[in-house]
Amino acid sequence: MARTKRQTRQGIVIFALEWLILFLAVSLATIAERSLVFNIVSITALSFLGTYLILKTKKLGVSTDMASLNNLGNPLMTRLLKVAPGTYNHSLIVAQLASSCGKAISINSELLQLGAYYHDIGKIMNPSIFVENGKNTGSEHNLEKKIIAHVKNGLKIANEYFLPVEICDLIIQHHGNSRVESFKESGFHYPGPKPQSKIAGIIMLSDCVEASVRSQKNPNEITIRKIIDTQVKKKQDSGQLSESGLSEDEIGKIKQDFALTISNIYHKRNKQ
Ligand SMILES: [Fe+2]
Ligand SMILES: [Fe+2]
Repeated sequence: MARTKRQTRQGIVIFALEWLILFLAVSLATIAERSLVFNIVSITALSFLGTYLILKTKKLGVSTDMASLNNLGNPLMTRLLKVAPGTYNHSLIVAQLASSCGKAISINSELLQLGAYYHDIGKIMNPSIFVENGKNTGSEHNLEKKIIAHVKNGLKIANEYFLPVEICDLIIQHHGNSRVESFKESGFHYPGPKPQSKIAGIIMLSDCVEASVRSQKNPNEITIRKIIDTQVKKKQDSGQLSESGLSEDEIGKIKQDFALTISNIYHKRNKQ
């Protein structure tokens, strides 16, 4: 599992605080010069109380981060919009697809939305090679390797902006070890790991379905359903979802939900 610099620092602070509380508890017991049983009980009680308070504070801190990441006006999302507007739009649609699927199979939709917002932030480093930003002609040297690097770069940027570990995991798992799809047939694969949770599996599926639908000029309901079936089958057949915990029944519901959400998005667009 990936760990951010801030979480490593948090771990050190918590470890130090726990030792400080234990030290204070031992000192108090020594000063009190009570019976051995009294000392053991008081040390244990104070240690438990201290650990509980620390964990509670840490939990509050992480959820505050999640709330600020949800605000699309934050510096990282603003940077993505400025540098890679196509990727920014793609990420918002992936978020819509993913959080709707989450509701359909009753899982935490906040992390689905946040994971989708930030899954491609690595594209900030080399935005023009990605088709959604409209400049890629396929002639770039070492294109596949540069495309693969957006996962590693995503983790690097996530660390710079102190993103929580839950989001870092989604960034590094969103392509699993799939084969890279670019202008020509390639034998290059992403390094993995495969999605390790239902949330990561949903983001992978939302990502490839959105990219494929976007590449079609005027998709109708039949082509949309075909794309969904093809993309999901491709991920299943190559074993990408084997460690995600998603059941066949859930994948069926996800496909239904994709069809509904994508049709709504395109219906709205065509009306504008
Ligand atoms: Fe990606
Ligand atoms: Fe993506």
